[in-house]
Parts: sequence; C-alpha cells; structure tokens
Amino acid sequence: MSESPTGQTVLVTGGAGFIGSHLVDALVEENEVRILDDFSSGRRENLNDDVTLFEGDIRDDDLVARATSGVDLVYHTAALVSVSASVEDPLLSHSTNASATVSLLEHARQEGARVVLSSSAAIYGQPEEVPVSESHPKDPESPYGADKLALDTYARLYHDLYGLETVALRYFNVYGPRQTAGDYSGVISIFLEQARANQPITVEGDGGQTRDFVHVSDVVQANLAAGTTDAVGRAYNVGTGDTISINDLAEEIRDAADSSSEITHVDARPGDVRDSRADISRIRDALDFEPTVTLADGLASLCE
Ligand code: UD1
Repeated sequence: MSESPTGQTVLVTGGAGFIGSHLVDALVEENEVRILDDFSSGRRENLNDDVTLFEGDIRDDDLVARATSGVDLVYHTAALVSVSASVEDPLLSHSTNASATVSLLEHARQEGARVVLSSSAAIYGQPEEVPVSESHPKDPESPYGADKLALDTYARLYHDLYGLETVALRYFNVYGPRQTAGDYSGVISIFLEQARANQPITVEGDGGQTRDFVHVSDVVQANLAAGTTDAVGRAYNVGTGDTISINDLAEEIRDAADSSSEITHVDARPGDVRDSRADISRIRDALDFEPTVTLADGLASLCE
C-alpha cells in the first residue's frame, strides 16, 4: 500500500458519515482534520473528538469557503446517499451531489488543494460485462448515478483543465461498522439486523444477483493511498474483485449471527442490477491497493 497523508490540514466532507467517519479516525493522528457535516445521514456519535467541526450543508458556499480555507487535502464523502431519494427528488440530488461538488472543487482550486472524491459503481448502470473495468460504458439508471457521473467527470476536468490533483474512487458495495439499517442502508446491515432479531431475512427477487462487497477499512486504505499518490487525474474502482450471491449472503449472515431466521423471498427491486463485480487491476497497479478483509472475517467481526 502507498503512503498515508501526514502533517496536512485535511477537510473531510461527510466526516460524521459511515465512510467519512472511518476515514477521519485514520487521519487524525498524523493530520489536522476538519469535518463538514450537516448530520442529515451522519451521526454525532461517529464524531471523532480531535477534529474541527464545520456544521452545515455542503451546498452552503460560505461554509465551504471557510472549511476549505488553508487546507492541503479534501476528502469529499458528503452526499445524498439514497438512490430512491434521488429518484423522488432529482433536483435535491443534483444540487447536493453534483452542483455542490463543483463549488467545492472551485474552492479547492483557489487553495491548490488535492481532492479525493467518492464516486460510485452506480455510474456504470446495469453492467454489460463483469468484472467492470473503469472504461466500461457509463449508463446510470438513477439521478444519484447521473450526479455521481458528473462528480467523477468534473474530478478529471479539474485535473485536465486546471492542473488540480484529483482522484475519484468508484465504490462498489461498501459495508462495515456504523452502516445502519435505516432508510438507506446496505443489504448486509439489513440482513444482520433481521438475523439478530430472528426475523425473516428478506431476499429480494430470486437471490441469484451478485455483488462485490468491500469492507470499509479497505475503502479507507484506498482513500489514504489516493491522498498521496502521484497517479492523479484518474478514477479507480474500489472493490475486491470477488462476488457473492444474495442467497449465499443471507445464509452466511444467518450462520455468522447464529440465528434461527428463515430466509424468505420478496419482490425483486425494479431495475435491480443483476451482477456487479469490480475489476480492480488499475487501483492495484497504481495505488498498490489490496483488499485485506474477507467477507467471512468482515461478517464475523460485525457479529461480535
Ligand atoms: C449499491 C449502493 C448504491 C450504489 C450501487 C452501485 C449501498 C447501500 N448501495 O446498491 O449506492 O448506487 O451499489 O452499484 O451500498 N436486497 C435484498 N434484501 C434487502 C435489501 C437488499 O435482497 O432487504 C438486495 C437488493 O435487491 C440488491 C442487493 O441486495 O440486489 C444489494 O442491495 P443494496 O445493498 O441496496 O445495494 P445496491 O442496490 O447494490
């Protein structure tokens, strides 16, 4: 793995959120860390004590100006993270996920700060083939995916047009501690909560669909490497390169939680992606990234 940022002033937008808060924990020892968060999906209990908090909306340009003043590095993880909310309110998704990103990049440009942005496998839409490499056609199927594609594209443009050091990380299915079984949450946190309560585990559709689940600690490692790499101006997939079917996942979670839940099938999600799996050769080669947490270990530690 490449080096991690040290001795820098770092802003983490969404630093109280699921991914952002783990990243903050990895940065605080060696850096001066600021957080910008409005706690819309982030949580106060995730807040690290050793940070300066800029509380408010990522769309508030004055707040972003203050938060970015004097920074060396920005990790942009703040987002409206719900795909279904983006379908209900595309303007909100666009202003939060796309427009606010361009404003943030503008401020970073004034500061000459590097920016590492959270993109998503959602930009690929329904994959034509797996594993999905970075050059796969981009055909998002939700406003969320369209806005992440804008973010991803602006990241490259700010590098190519203005020489800003940017890196976009395209996350596949991230899971781990602090991912909550709320309105918007990954299937692992939902299944785990169902298994713990010995309630039916709800597999949507036939359960033959597959996903590439990457542990949040590996996602943090990818971010740290992106904070120091010379290979900027590019986008990288962040996954494991492995997949599991949702049926097998339901069984593994039931076993890991030592639960007596039955596994039931409910309606398939309209437009659900069938198979998703990252080709991670680019990030492996350029950033020395290697996922270290197997799904079995990740599930076991979530059950502890
Ligand atoms: C994930 C991301 C999303 C991103 C997309 C990109 C999460 C939470 N979402 O969506 O931001 O746009 O990847 O590819 O990480 N399922 C069940 N039962 C449940 C819940 C889910 O069977 O109770 C199934 C779903 O139908 C789906 C699979 O599990 O087939 C994964 O669902 P989910 O965790 O919501 O993630 P994605 O839809 O892959």
